[in-house]
Amino acid sequence: MQLIPPDIEQYVSEQTDPVSPLLKRLEQETREKTPHPQMLSGPVEGRFLQMLIRLSGARNVLEIGTFTGFSALMMAEGLPENGEIVTLEIDDAYADIAARYFTISPYRNKIRLMRGPARNSLSTLPQQFFDFIFIDADKGSYGDYYEEGIRLIRRGGLITVDNALWNGKALQPDDDDSRAIARFNNLVKQDSRVEKVMLTIRDGIYLIRKK
Ligand SMILES: C[S@@+](CC[C@H](N)C(=O)[O-])C[C@H]1O[C@@H](n2cnc3c(N)ncnc32)[C@H](O)[C@@H]1O
Repeated sequence: MQLIPPDIEQYVSEQTDPVSPLLKRLEQETREKTPHPQMLSGPVEGRFLQMLIRLSGARNVLEIGTFTGFSALMMAEGLPENGEIVTLEIDDAYADIAARYFTISPYRNKIRLMRGPARNSLSTLPQQFFDFIFIDADKGSYGDYYEEGIRLIRRGGLITVDNALWNGKALQPDDDDSRAIARFNNLVKQDSRVEKVMLTIRDGIYLIRKK
């Protein structure tokens, strides 16, 4: 199912600032060399995350699910001089592509890539340290990542979660991933520790603020 009609998506994209030539190259390489290039969040969501980071003044950012580094680079661009993004990736082939682009990016000093299962990396990170967290990895672990996110984010910080609509299947879950997303969405909905709003950007973004 296409959630938003293609002509509307196209228009939204055209009305949004374009990404740098480096990020265009990364998109192209991701399409050519990875089996699931659609995992890359893309220019509109990337600009949206970057805008949130600028507006909130976030300095310490955490991303769970680097893939080839597109969203990490977009978010790094929105950080202040002394800002840093820590990004977690389990798959070495994806992490190798990301690392290569991080190295040639003007934001290389702001990005720290941690390889390996996110759970292991998360357990080493300092409590209430982060201003902004982007969850975008394996859907079955969203509940765990969220609880870790609540531990790691400061009060007033933002947790953004990708694929909240899961191509519409969150409404009528019929497989493991869609059931995990639906369960996760209900967990957030009932969580009085946070304020939340779900947005229909791309595949759905859950925007969650820790009280
Ligand atoms: C949807 S992609 C991330 C897309 C990226 N944020 C972007 O916008 O370009 C999800 C990524 O999470 C990674 N991943 C899956 N399970 C993981 C785990 N247990 N720990 C860390 N990363 C994981 C996958 O290898 C994949 O690269």
